Amino acid sequence: MKGLVLAGGYGTRLRPLTHTGPKQLIPIANKPNIQYCIEDLRDAGITEIGIILGNMMPEKVQEFLGDGEEFGVRFTYITQGEPKGIAHAINCARDFMGDEPFVVYLGDNLLKNGIGAIPELMTKEGADCVISLMPVKDPQSYGIAELSDDGEKVVRTVEKPKVPKSDLAVIGVYAFNRTFFEVYPRLKPSWRNEMEVTDAISLLIDSGFKVVPHRVDGWWKDTGKPEDILEANHLILDGIETLNEGRVEDGASVMGRVRIGKGTVVMAGSVVKGPCVIGEGATIGPGTYIGPYTAIGDRCTVAKAEVDDSIVMDDAVIDVEKKIVRSMVGKGSRILSSAGLVPKGERFVIGENTTIYI
Ligand code: TTP
Repeated sequence: MKGLVLAGGYGTRLRPLTHTGPKQLIPIANKPNIQYCIEDLRDAGITEIGIILGNMMPEKVQEFLGDGEEFGVRFTYITQGEPKGIAHAINCARDFMGDEPFVVYLGDNLLKNGIGAIPELMTKEGADCVISLMPVKDPQSYGIAELSDDGEKVVRTVEKPKVPKSDLAVIGVYAFNRTFFEVYPRLKPSWRNEMEVTDAISLLIDSGFKVVPHRVDGWWKDTGKPEDILEANHLILDGIETLNEGRVEDGASVMGRVRIGKGTVVMAGSVVKGPCVIGEGATIGPGTYIGPYTAIGDRCTVAKAEVDDSIVMDDAVIDVEKKIVRSMVGKGSRILSSAGLVPKGERFVIGENTTIYI
């Protein structure tokens, strides 16, 4: 079985973070979302993986992933370019898949318990397609699956139904075989002018192919919006183990499950309270508090501040006596004190579509 990870799309809801790179590279607990997907595929025994590239700085994805050796897999890059829908992206991989069945993983989805059950189901059930389902509170906002009375088969999938017949959302991990490519030419663009994967699944069902549901256990997160990324950070940090490869000075306090990378210093008088993760080569202190559910990237400096429940990306500097909560600070950004500067006042150099609460 092969794998396909989607790293295209616009990522409009994550601007300005997606002005400088695709959303699948945004770090969650210091690891890009796409890396979790790759590791899940690898752990399920899938090592031949196609990566769908969009037109949002695709070279950054290639630069990060390389040829796959570092992750114990092999990548083939496939260019989709403009995002014309998830089904369109999958169809771009037709030559790469050949006659093999494959698992598709959206590069902005995260699953607590991996995807091992999906290839297994595909084989055991002799299915043409497996879709992953998760109960949601607002089914009107998702692609929804309706199941047969015995719950064994999917009878219909509907994109954002006005009157949902179930609360089971179709989430971003699927398995298909070559029947996907057989039905694809009959697919029509949706009202939003995209080739929808839910429509492709409906077409498979209508053509008599076997579509089997997989109910996901554990949490699932789609990291399409900033609040989702913070929540995903929370969920991943809940499971981290303590590992200190840095230096904690005498008089500093590190409590709970905290991972500290090589070359990082936690200075005397600072407090780090887990669960949290601090990357390599960072400086925490003086007079700093890093609170639970915070991820601090490589080479960051955090001085004087209290930072809680936040993501601070690589090379960022926070040097101000303020409490920063539920925030995302982009790579290389700086939050500094305006004390002593004339004229007095807050000062900003901020990118497009940035939100600041002061
Ligand atoms: P979406 O989150 O539905 O779309 P988007 O990335 O364009 O985001 P936004 O709505 O904020 O503009 O995409 C789901 C996943 O599928 C995501 O990982 C991007 C990927 N994708 C592609 O690779 N190609 C596509 O044509 C589309 C629509 C999505």
